Amino acid sequence: MDIRAEIGTRTEQINEILAAWLPKAEGEQRTVIEAMNYSFLAGGKRLRPMLMQETYRLFGGRSRVIEPFMAAIEMIHTYSLVHDDLPAMDNDEYRRGKKTTHVVYGEAMAILAGDGLLTYAFETAANAFDIEPQNIGIGHSMRVLARKAGIYGMVGGQTVDVESEDSKDMTKERLDFIYRLKTSALIEASMLIGAILAGATQSEQKIVEEVAGKVGLAFQIQDDILDVTGTMEVLGKPIGSDEKNHKMTYVAYEGLEKAKEDVAALSGQAIAQMNSLVVKNEFLTELLRYLIAREK
Ligand code: IPE
Ligand code: IPE
Ligand code: MG
Ligand code: MG
Ligand code: MG
Repeated sequence: MDIRAEIGTRTEQINEILAAWLPKAEGEQRTVIEAMNYSFLAGGKRLRPMLMQETYRLFGGRSRVIEPFMAAIEMIHTYSLVHDDLPAMDNDEYRRGKKTTHVVYGEAMAILAGDGLLTYAFETAANAFDIEPQNIGIGHSMRVLARKAGIYGMVGGQTVDVESEDSKDMTKERLDFIYRLKTSALIEASMLIGAILAGATQSEQKIVEEVAGKVGLAFQIQDDILDVTGTMEVLGKPIGSDEKNHKMTYVAYEGLEKAKEDVAALSGQAIAQMNSLVVKNEFLTELLRYLIAREK
């Protein structure tokens, strides 16, 4: 399998699905809608909707019920980036190869665009009830989406991340807590919702959540590595952001070599655990393998 080409094809298909769920920039409030769509359409790897769709397929899912949830998770992820880049947080000026939302639309509108994306995500996901009213997994999926985005998920992780700037007494446990919440949580939501909507059993859901936790951890460690070793041209966002903000990252804590080893080890564990499932999805396995050496 030419995994790069496959990812390219799937990303295009996902972009078409996502675009269909965006609000139209019209009405008196069109500026905020424009700002929402600006950041959403600026690009991005679409990893979370991809993982959601492929996990749904892994468990035999075949309907369009997954589509509003794919859009919803990408809206929540995009909102997290818009707010993460604000001057009060990481204060970064480029994202997905373009000027950040607050640079183009101003800080107030960037805050509102984030709020708008978060709320619209749930409005969008609720369309699943119309597509497949008989699917008992939809309510559960809404709950997972809320939980993993909020104080017990991404927001909680970002909280401790912000509080840990300049921290000289970082521990491995605290670092793990930050990563599990700020990054793994949305990846867990992605894969778990795919499994739930396809009707996976509880024990299968548990395995999927664990796999996603490891994928998320590896993904964030690789993000930290690329903040040191990458380039703005390839990443589409500034390098050196963590150092600028005095972040105690995995790379700063463990060193570059150990961080790279951990990315490979965690991904290997995730792949092995996925292979323990009866159901198979070759693309999903290859995607996880590909992420180990990703350059953006
Ligand atoms: C960036 O996520 C933020 C992290 C959690 C590391 P991505 O690397 O998935 O960003 P996009 O969506 O491709 O822009
Ligand atoms: C942010 O981590 C994770 C989020 C929840 C947005 P980073 O601050 O490292 O993400 P980037 O590097 O700006 O994409
Ligand atoms: Mg940050
Ligand atoms: Mg950042
Ligand atoms: Mg980063």
